[in-house]
Amino acid sequence: MQIKFNDKTNQIIKNLALEAKRFGVKIYFVGGLVRDVLMGKAPLDIDILVEGNAIDFVKSIDFVGIKSIHKDFGTVKTEISGIDIDFASTRIEEYPKSGCLPHVAKIGCDIKDDLIRRDFTINAIAARILPSLDYEIIDIFNGCDDILKGVLKVLHKNSYIDDPTRILRGLDFKLRFNFIFSPEDEKLIQSYLKNPDREGLSKDRVVLTLNKLFSSNERALAAMEDFSRCGYYKILFDEFLFDREKFENAIKLFDIKDIGKVCLKYILEAPPVEIKSKSRLEIYKHFKDFSDVDLCVYYLKTNDKNTLIYHNELKNVKVYLKGSDLLNLGYKQGKIIGDILDKVLEAKLAKNTDIVSFEDEVEFVKRTFKL
Ligand code: CTP
Repeated sequence: MQIKFNDKTNQIIKNLALEAKRFGVKIYFVGGLVRDVLMGKAPLDIDILVEGNAIDFVKSIDFVGIKSIHKDFGTVKTEISGIDIDFASTRIEEYPKSGCLPHVAKIGCDIKDDLIRRDFTINAIAARILPSLDYEIIDIFNGCDDILKGVLKVLHKNSYIDDPTRILRGLDFKLRFNFIFSPEDEKLIQSYLKNPDREGLSKDRVVLTLNKLFSSNERALAAMEDFSRCGYYKILFDEFLFDREKFENAIKLFDIKDIGKVCLKYILEAPPVEIKSKSRLEIYKHFKDFSDVDLCVYYLKTNDKNTLIYHNELKNVKVYLKGSDLLNLGYKQGKIIGDILDKVLEAKLAKNTDIVSFEDEVEFVKRTFKL
């Protein structure tokens, strides 16, 4: 396999391969980088896997700038000639409970034992880095074949039970690469969803995975559709409502640019408390700290048309007058100043108000509050 890095990066990788030879360890690219290169894409982040202890290896090289070390995981973040490179030690992981973050059982294991802890065959291909800049492919799970076939397959039948967020990662890969889950994986997923174990589920991992899934605007609604239709929501909840037409409509109504953010918030946030009072001032005060995404999600969850009144009519209303202006006009310091500013706001929020400019506000105050 060939990897098209620029000359500077190639030189760094060559030097690292020579250092690995000197130190007596094998180093690899693995996971997303290898998958992407095999799919004809340019490599993005550079992560190197060390078959052994990455921390000891990195410390033995004098041209590496260490940025941080995570001893428990055997990982090191570095900078080499201005390029960020992360190093990881091969490791064996164990899942004490379904969905929780795995425990590291051993750092510095055989490459095969490291590959087996991974999610899909397409992500479990390693490419050994040689000083000649040839890359020797290690593909014990036939990931190359699955890339060609466009199929997502886990490495063992407990994989989705160990980590149900892999279902959502799979959905992301499916939509990103136009792949499908293998029939066996479809069965494993549906079998997990019949009896999901949410007790030990790592919230951090769920949020991280959903963030990734909804990071693309183009794929966000397709992801929501599968999340609902295929029952993937059962990883998190018993029930989930999604109406694509309603979403598309709300996205237009609130001029949403980041559709993924709406989807994410819609999934992760509990239904909001609805406002009781419907005066325009109350509506304004209730929603004044809401972003367009917040408003859109609130609307989707409650159908409350006040969100539209706020978005279309009230959101941009501002009072120009400040307390100091009122003091200059001769009003006395105290509660009255706040009351006057509130009245100005209320008057500006009224339908067909004729109070627009700073001068209009002054005029209104003088007319309404006699000195
Ligand atoms: N991984 C896993 N289970 C998870 C998350 C990650 O097994 N819940 C493994 C995968 O094998 C993956 C590797 O950890 O290849 C690195 O994960 P990550 O950086 O999130 O993804 P990439 O596969 O590199 O893909 P991309 O960044 O392109 O989404």
